[in-house]
Amino acid sequence: MKAIIPAAGLGTRFLPVTRVVPKEMLPIGAKPALELIVDEARAAGADEIVIVISEGKELIRRYFEGQGDIRFVYQKEQKGLGHAVLQAEIDDDALILLGDALVVGCCAAKEMVEVSKGHGGAAVIGCERVPKEKVSRYGIMKLDGDRIVDMVEKPAIEEAPSDIAVAGRYLLPAAIFGYLKTQTPGKGGEIQLTDAIRRMLSERDAYAYVYPGKRQDIGNPDGYFAALEAYRGNS
Ligand code: G1P
Repeated sequence: MKAIIPAAGLGTRFLPVTRVVPKEMLPIGAKPALELIVDEARAAGADEIVIVISEGKELIRRYFEGQGDIRFVYQKEQKGLGHAVLQAEIDDDALILLGDALVVGCCAAKEMVEVSKGHGGAAVIGCERVPKEKVSRYGIMKLDGDRIVDMVEKPAIEEAPSDIAVAGRYLLPAAIFGYLKTQTPGKGGEIQLTDAIRRMLSERDAYAYVYPGKRQDIGNPDGYFAALEAYRGNS
């Protein structure tokens, strides 16, 4: 298994600091947030980590350069999360950890690897319950037990099949890259990872795992403050 950490976003919700400091490099204590995510990937057993960056985010590269299990690829155009993941194409199971989603209080990725083993190596998506009024910010699951029947990216409240949302962690087979290559733009005109997974569901089982830790969205100042507090309370 290899890990992919998409960290190519422009950080527009966190200006002006993101003009020079990528949001993923903001400190949580003495470590950049991204290093905590790298630690999570290693703890889950990833033997290589591919970080997807964009031009202007070279600070990430400088910080991690020299760590033998990490390499970098560029996303040259902002075409969506699915497109970012595709830039890191690997020929192995892919543990995807969003670079602005910090999970405090548990090692979500490691637990997802265990859940996958329990399902014969099937795909697992890390999820959280969200308040009904916020479903339109997330990928939302339609479930049968914990098996994913369908999923929809950022639905309107009245169209949301549940309150179980994709929460920044995915364990997917290498086959996902085939679906990403033929994926047409969806919500927001972007190539959505959710849409590619959705197409994969017709051929492969996937399961939702509501992990016990709390996801912190460090892509905006409020989320970042919350992450600092959660991390402090946990360490
Ligand atoms: C992405 C995914 C979405 C997911 C969310 C949080 O959205 O597209 O399905 O629920 O991350 O993990 P974004 O926050 O990048 O708009």
